[in-house]
Amino acid sequence: MLRVDINNIFPFVEETALKSMHDELDRAHRSLEAGDGLGSDFLGWLRLPSQYDREEFQRIKKSAEKIKSDSQVLVVIGIGGSYLGARAAIEFLRSPNYNLLDKDTPDIFFVGNNLSSSAISEIIDLIGNRDFSINVISKSGTTTEPAIAFRIFKKLIEERYDAEEARGRIYATTDSSKGALKNLADTEGYESFVIPDNIGGRYSVLTAVGLLPMAVAGIDIDALMAGAQAAMEAFAQKSFENPVWQYVAARNLLYRNGKTIEILAAYEPSFRFMAEWWKQLYGESEGKDGKGIYPASVDFTADLHSMGQYIQEGMRNLFETVIHIKNAPGSVVIEADEDNIDGLNFLAGKDLNFVNEQAFRGTLLAHVDGGVPNIIIDLNTIDEENFGWIVYFFELACGISGYVLGVNPFNQPGVEAYKKNMFALLGKPGFEEQRDILMERLK
Ligand code: PA5
Repeated sequence: MLRVDINNIFPFVEETALKSMHDELDRAHRSLEAGDGLGSDFLGWLRLPSQYDREEFQRIKKSAEKIKSDSQVLVVIGIGGSYLGARAAIEFLRSPNYNLLDKDTPDIFFVGNNLSSSAISEIIDLIGNRDFSINVISKSGTTTEPAIAFRIFKKLIEERYDAEEARGRIYATTDSSKGALKNLADTEGYESFVIPDNIGGRYSVLTAVGLLPMAVAGIDIDALMAGAQAAMEAFAQKSFENPVWQYVAARNLLYRNGKTIEILAAYEPSFRFMAEWWKQLYGESEGKDGKGIYPASVDFTADLHSMGQYIQEGMRNLFETVIHIKNAPGSVVIEADEDNIDGLNFLAGKDLNFVNEQAFRGTLLAHVDGGVPNIIIDLNTIDEENFGWIVYFFELACGISGYVLGVNPFNQPGVEAYKKNMFALLGKPGFEEQRDILMERLK
C-alpha cells in the first residue's frame, strides 16, 4: 500500500551512514512501543487503529446519519489538530471542491480556525436559511478561536430552532472529563465524543475529531480504520525493510548534513490539506529546543511556476519528500487537433495522468541534479484504506523521528507564548501585569 524510495538521497549522504543509524532507530521505535520515552503519556494513537472504542465508533456513524438526514450544512468548529485532519481527509478523499459537488451529503464549513470577521460572516451568509448542525471540537475546551466561533454559531442555531432541537443539532468532541466545552456539553446534554486523554490534538485524526466530519462527508470510516490497522501491523517491523525506518533515517541524515527544510510535494491538488496536516504534525512535534526540520509544502505542478526557481537554485538547505500516487484516479485524454496551432499534438491520445507522471519524473531528476535530495513516498491510490496507511505512516515516523532528534514529540510548549500576549492585549482577567509590559513595548 505504501513504500518509500530513498535512492535519491545517496548523492548527498553516505550509504554507510544509513546503516549506522540502525541502533538509534531501533532504540527510538522500541522506546515508543514500551512507553518509556519522552511524552509517554500521549501514546494513545500508537495502537488506536486496533484499540478504538467500538461503542463510540457506532455512535459516530449514527450521528453522521442523523446529520445527513436533517442538515444541509455541517459547521465544524476547531483549530490545529481539531481541524486539519478532517479537512485533509474530506479534500483528499472526496474533493477540494467538496461543497460544490452534486452530492447527497451536507456541505461542510470549517470555522473557528481564524479570528477573521469577514470569514465568519461569509459562512453565516453561505448557510443562509438552510438547516444546519454544529460539530464543535476542542480537546482543552478553552481555545480562543473555536470558543468564540461556538458562541456565535450556538446563538445562531438557538435562534433558528427551539431549544430541544437546537441541542440535538450540536455535537461536542472534547475531553472526557474537563474543560469549558465538556462542562457546557454536560449541562446542555449535547451528544458528546471523547478525545482520549492520551492522544494529543495533532495525533487525533483517527478519533471522533476526524471521524465524525468524515462520516458526514460520506467517507467510509470502517475502510479507513482498516487501512490504519494494516499499516500499524506492517510498520511494527524493526528493520530497514520498514518504510517508516527508511523515511526517518533519510530525513534525519539529511538534517545532520545541513538540509534543515523538508518540502512535502504532491502532484494532486487534493493533497493540499494533507500537507497542512503533515506540517502541523511535524512542526509542532519536532520544532523545539532550538532543533527540528522546518516542514514546508508545495503543490506541483502549480508551484513549479512559483517556488520552482528557488527549489532548483536557491539556498541548498532543502530536501523534498514527494508523494507519488501510483494509480491516480480519473482519466482525461488529450485529443488530437487538426490545426495543432498550440503544438500539442505530440500529446494526442495521452492521458493527463501520464503527463503528470512525466512532470514528476522530470522534476525529481532536475531537483536532484540541482542539489535537492528527494525521498519518494509511493501511495497506491486515493481511497480510505490508503488514507489510513499514510496517516499512520506519518504519525509513527513522527514519533520515532522526534526521539531520534532528542525532543519530546508530544508537547507544544511554544504555542502558549502568543496566547499570553493576545490575552494580555485583549484585557483578559489575570493578565494585567503582562498587559502593562506589552503596552509599553508597543508604544
Ligand atoms: O496539536 C495540538 O495540541 C494543537 O494543535 C491543538 O489541536 C490546537 O491548539 C487546538 O486545541 P484544542 O483542541 O484544545 O482546542
